[in-house]
Amino acid sequence: MIPENTAVIGLRYGDEGKGKIVDILSGYHFDYVVRYQGGHNAGHTVQVGERTYKLHLLPSGILRPHKKCVLGNGMVIDPKALVAEIDDLGIDVYRRLYISDCATMIMPWHSAKENRDSGHYGPGGVGSTGRGIGPAYEDKAGRRAFKMWELDVMRENGFDKFCLRVWQEAEKFYRPLPARKWHLEIENFLAAARKIIPYICDTRRLLNEKYSQGKILFEGAQGHMLDIDHGTYPFVTSSNPTVGGICTGTGLPPKAIKNVLGVVKAYDTRVGNGPFPTEDTGPAGQYLLKVGREQGTTTGRDRRCGWFDGVQAHEAVMINGVDALAVMKLDVLTGLPEVKICIGYERNGHSLHHPPADPDELARCKPVYDSVPGWTENITEVRRYDDLPGSAQKLLWWLGNRSHAPVKLVSVGPERSQVILNPNAKHVFPWMEDMLQMAES
Ligand code: GDP
Ligand code: IMO
Ligand code: MG
Repeated sequence: MIPENTAVIGLRYGDEGKGKIVDILSGYHFDYVVRYQGGHNAGHTVQVGERTYKLHLLPSGILRPHKKCVLGNGMVIDPKALVAEIDDLGIDVYRRLYISDCATMIMPWHSAKENRDSGHYGPGGVGSTGRGIGPAYEDKAGRRAFKMWELDVMRENGFDKFCLRVWQEAEKFYRPLPARKWHLEIENFLAAARKIIPYICDTRRLLNEKYSQGKILFEGAQGHMLDIDHGTYPFVTSSNPTVGGICTGTGLPPKAIKNVLGVVKAYDTRVGNGPFPTEDTGPAGQYLLKVGREQGTTTGRDRRCGWFDGVQAHEAVMINGVDALAVMKLDVLTGLPEVKICIGYERNGHSLHHPPADPDELARCKPVYDSVPGWTENITEVRRYDDLPGSAQKLLWWLGNRSHAPVKLVSVGPERSQVILNPNAKHVFPWMEDMLQMAES
C-alpha cells in the first residue's frame, strides 16, 4: 500500500514529539521532508539507539541517508544558526538540503530587537525563544526583509550588493553602540550567509515537479495553539504551523496535501506564557515534568505541565482536517494514581464546548474532567496495542473520542522503535501497517 504526501502537525503548544514521528515516517517511502514555517525556535529531538539528535532548522529526515530536506519559503532562517547546526550534526547535507530562495533571513539584530520590545506584552512577555523569530516575520510583513535570493551570486554584484545593504541596515540599528560591539557580529553573519549559498534554489518549482509522486512529508514546527491566527494570540509564535501554512510556506497547491497526521502527547505541556486551562501545578504536574523530562529542547526552560485538553484538540482536528492522531509519551503516565482528560469547560455556570478566542477568557475557563484509573506496569517494551493495560487503552479511546479523530500511532518511549499501531484504526493510513517494519531498516 503506497502512502501519499503527508503532513505531520503538532496539535497542541509544540513539543508533542513531531520530530520522532517524522523520523519514523521518513524511513519509509517518502523522499522529501519539508519544513514550511518557523525557524530555529523549533527543537525536535530524535533518539536513534543510544544517540540523541536535537534539530532546530533541519528537518528530521536529514538523519536518513538519501532523503532530501527542504527549508520552505515560509521559514525564517538564521544563516549562523543553520551553519552551526550542520557542523554540529556532522552529517553530509550536500545535495540533500534545499533552501528556498524566497525564505526570509533572520538578521543579527532581530533577537536584540525582540528583547528590547518584549515588555509590550506585559510582565513576563510572551516568553519567546528569543531567537528573533517575531522581528523577522515583522520585517517580512513590512516588506523590508532580507530574502535568500539576495545571496544569489549570479545577479550583478550579487553578494556585494547584499553586504552593502546589511551594513547599512546594521548601522541604523546599532547606531548608539560602539562599532567594535557589533562589527564582528555582522562579519560572522556574512561569513555564514556566504556558506549557505550552494543550498539556495527554487524550492517551489522543485516541490511542484515532485508532488504528484506522493513522496513528500511536511514537518510542522510549533503547534496549533501557537499559530498566529488560530492560537492563543498574542501568546503565539509569528507563523502558521497549521495546515494552511503548508501551501503558503512551500508554494504547493492544497491538493498536494493528502494526509494529515496530528501529533499530541497523552498529556499537555506549554513552554512560555499564555493561557493553559488544564495546567496542573500540583504533584501530578510535577510528576509529568520530572518523568516526562519536560525541559525545552531549544531554551532548556521547564515546560508547564497539565492534562490533555479534548476541547482544544477537537478544535485543532477540525481546523487542520486531521485524519488520525499519533499519541506520544503514554509511558510517562505510568505510576500516576489517576489520569485526567478535559472533556469540556465551565465558565460563569455555563458549559463551553469550544475554546473562547479571548486568551483571558480561556484562562478563566474551568476544565471539566473525566478520568481513568492509573496503571503501574512498565509499558516501554510493549509493541502490541492489546498488550497495553486496559486503563491505558481506555484513555486512548477517550483521547480519540474527544478529539474526533482515530488514534493511529501510540508512542511508549523516545526511541525510534518504541511505537505501536492501533489495530482499531486500520481503515486510516493503511500504508502505515507495513511502514514500521521498513522504517527499522
Ligand atoms: P517536537 O518539538 O514536537 O519534535 O518534540 P520535542 O522533541 O521538543 O519534545 C518531545 C520529547 O519527548 C523529546 O525529548 C523526545 O525524545 C521525547 N519523546 C518522544 N516520544 C516519546 C515517548 O513516547 N516517550 C517518552 N518518554 N519520550 C518521548
Ligand atoms: P517545537 O517545533 C514549544 C513558544 C515560545 C513562546 C512562543 C513564541 O519544538 O514544537 P517564538 O520564539 O516562536 O516567537 O516564541 O512560542 N514556542 C514553542 N514552544 N515548542 C516549540 O517548537 C516552540 N516554538 C516557539 O516558548 O511561548
Ligand atoms: Mg520541540
